[in-house]
Amino acid sequence: MAPSLPLVPSLDLPVVLLSHRGPVSFGRDPVSGERTASRGAGGLVTALSGLAGHLERAVWVCVAAGQADGEVSAEAGDAPLRLALDGDPRILGEGDVADREVAVRLVDVPAEVHEPFYGVIANPLLWFVQHRLHDLKTSPSIGREERAAFEDGYVVANTLAADAVVAQVERAGGKAIVLLHDYHFYLVGRLVRERCPDAVINHFVHIPWPGPEAWQVLPPDMRERLLLGLLGCDVVAFHTRADARAFVLCAQELLDLPVDLSAMTVTTGGRTVHVRAYPISIDVAALEQQASTDASDEHLADLDERLAGGQLVLRVDRTDPSKNIVRGFTAYDLLLTEHPELHGRVLFLALLQPSRQDVPEYAQYLADIGAAAASVNARHGTGDWQPVDLRLASDMDLATAAYRRCDVLVVNAVADGMNLVAKEAVIVNERDMVLALSEATGAHDELGSFAVTLHPFDVAQQADALHAALTMSPVLRRDRREHAAQVVHRNDVRRWLTVQLNDLADLRHG
Ligand code: G6P
Repeated sequence: MAPSLPLVPSLDLPVVLLSHRGPVSFGRDPVSGERTASRGAGGLVTALSGLAGHLERAVWVCVAAGQADGEVSAEAGDAPLRLALDGDPRILGEGDVADREVAVRLVDVPAEVHEPFYGVIANPLLWFVQHRLHDLKTSPSIGREERAAFEDGYVVANTLAADAVVAQVERAGGKAIVLLHDYHFYLVGRLVRERCPDAVINHFVHIPWPGPEAWQVLPPDMRERLLLGLLGCDVVAFHTRADARAFVLCAQELLDLPVDLSAMTVTTGGRTVHVRAYPISIDVAALEQQASTDASDEHLADLDERLAGGQLVLRVDRTDPSKNIVRGFTAYDLLLTEHPELHGRVLFLALLQPSRQDVPEYAQYLADIGAAAASVNARHGTGDWQPVDLRLASDMDLATAAYRRCDVLVVNAVADGMNLVAKEAVIVNERDMVLALSEATGAHDELGSFAVTLHPFDVAQQADALHAALTMSPVLRRDRREHAAQVVHRNDVRRWLTVQLNDLADLRHG
């Protein structure tokens, strides 16, 4: 194995990571029946995959997602698998070496547990509470089914994950840095604390954290357990100071705990819990490499030819209701109605990855997106110009080509913990694009001064802002994009993790 980069010189403890998705997912080739391995998807997994191979003595615990993952997990037993993270993902046997590798422990969560955990509690309920997506006239409605899903799904999955984390901490002699991630595992911190008192536990919440009123849609026993689970950690971390502050206020108002809003601490059970903000970022070098492949170049040439000098408005998202895709099309529709001079000269390319289609709200949202795009095309399209090009797929080569070519990137999310698409696009864009960025994204804290700000619910304002972006002077466009790119270069994903690990090391020694 190549020498690890000295990410954190003072770190003398092994690291145990936990996230729902892992760096690799296994399947079976439908023809040969052979086992296949592909990289895990999503910004969080991409960020952690880029870093985990550089950490010495790290074990990444994640959920075995499908049948093939389950088989691999059963074959491996309690021992972590060694996975190569350079090139195509593969399992390393004894004596095999790779430039970068990580040990992975897959946790088998039975389907009858995973379905309510993921499909009833984590995604529709917690995701919706935290992105404030409920329509309170009718939802949420927490009946016997949801309560059973919490007890028999969320609690059980969290217990299984905690067992696996504890086993890895114990293998390391009881002392480790434990990095828990996301809304799937709010109960794990406390469970690990009870059994591993010497571990330093950090939980990173990657999605927005709303204030106490938003959490009051959950019954008191449920929200208290979630909060107390997180407060089992030494540090609870968020992307923004506003989210961190909202968490402290929840501890104060919903649990009646003593808090210090200037030190950003909560006192519970004689311990001090630190609440911090670390804005996540991207692996700039890896993205630049992805944007310089032949496949990306070919897509770029196709786009150039098709646009014939016209302007490209782009969005790249999962089909998630929090992304506000339908309102984005409504705003574009209004823009075209009010500015007929743009007809034939602008294209809105929407690269959308279908997401969580087993959750009814997501399936309905995907249908709404298709209808909204079709309606813009029907209203304004002509024989040789369709104003919206909707692509439902995940294609990184096409995405990087579109990042390079776009004139405006639209991110109008209702709420978003960070939004890494905004950071990716400003790095590889070649035309001094304008970032049209929702004020409700974490990214707006860092990049808002170099963007055209969007208000997620004001479609008239979004239409005006899109027009301002499309007509901005070249000098201003260049200045803003360059400044935005500098911000991302300065705070890349490596810095994000290094600063956290240094702070955790200080906490342990302090
Ligand atoms: C968000 C979450 C991630 C998750 C991703 C994809 O970015 O913060 O934890 O991996 O969405 O969601 P999925 O449900 O497909 O894992």
